Amino acid sequence: MSFEQINSVGNLRHLITLDGLPRSQLELILERARRYLTPVGSPPPRADTLRGQTVANLFFEASTRTRASFELAAKRLSADVLNLDVNMSSRAKGEGVIDTIFTLEAMQVDIFVVRDAGPGVPARIARQVEPHVCVLNAGEADLSHPTQGLLDLMTIMLHKGDPAKLTVAIVGDIRHSRVARSAWQALGTYEVGEFRLVGPAELLPEDDEFPGAARTTDLAEGIADADVVMALRLQKERFAQLSEIPDPQEYFRRYGLTEARLGAAKADAIVMHPGPMNRGVEIASAVADGSRSVIREQVTNGLAVRMAVLEIVHDHVRRARGEHP
Ligand code: CP
Repeated sequence: MSFEQINSVGNLRHLITLDGLPRSQLELILERARRYLTPVGSPPPRADTLRGQTVANLFFEASTRTRASFELAAKRLSADVLNLDVNMSSRAKGEGVIDTIFTLEAMQVDIFVVRDAGPGVPARIARQVEPHVCVLNAGEADLSHPTQGLLDLMTIMLHKGDPAKLTVAIVGDIRHSRVARSAWQALGTYEVGEFRLVGPAELLPEDDEFPGAARTTDLAEGIADADVVMALRLQKERFAQLSEIPDPQEYFRRYGLTEARLGAAKADAIVMHPGPMNRGVEIASAVADGSRSVIREQVTNGLAVRMAVLEIVHDHVRRARGEHP
């Protein structure tokens, strides 16, 4: 059984990957997301759009930012929201993920937000749900994190404009990073000027991935004159052997982003990090909290992007239920 991310009337139904998603769809999401951006400290935006629809957050892997922002996004759009406590669910008794989905579908869940450490799980769910139901990938193994890619794209464009004119450097454990893959897909769709992968050789991706991206093991070379520098953590949970994980102090000595090292990037370069951060390993606190950091803005933008995505796919649910033409 196959599935399409775009439905028969050309609208987004599932969001599993940014790979191959047309630029027009990305533009639509970012344009909607901008409507939901209000300054931190002002009342959060609210709408009735998802009233009568049910969103289930199924996080089979740990999360703070993605889970909290999908929950707040759904609530601020007036959906009924179910946050399954996975450790207390019947998955702990051996129930398979598809049986969990069928069970929740029987309770009239319309939109599933799914994070899983296994590759292919969101797509497998998307292939088996009822025709009106939507699936949003909230992080899949090391492969895909589409709303993260969108919020990173949005953050870069809000600060730096057209990606085609920019040099973006991603530093760290790219081999195990779904964030890097989704950023590459999003920025590739916007024809990014230059995309650089920077890290120890053993943490760079396979040669056939990221076609056209520059690669270097030299941090100074990798961030030289960059407009955007994104640090990634060592994703320890995805190393095949514990012995392969670099020593944190040695890693910081070679690849940690410090104020001094950032001197190689453009003077107005922005610093990004998807979180969670390991301060003193991939990034110094002075940089994470410094004037060039947009790390907290990424979080704010993530909530707006998730509101936009929920609002867009909800249209599929309504049409499939025959609620409007
Ligand atoms: N960036 C990100 O996915 O963070 P969480 O794991 O906290 O959701």
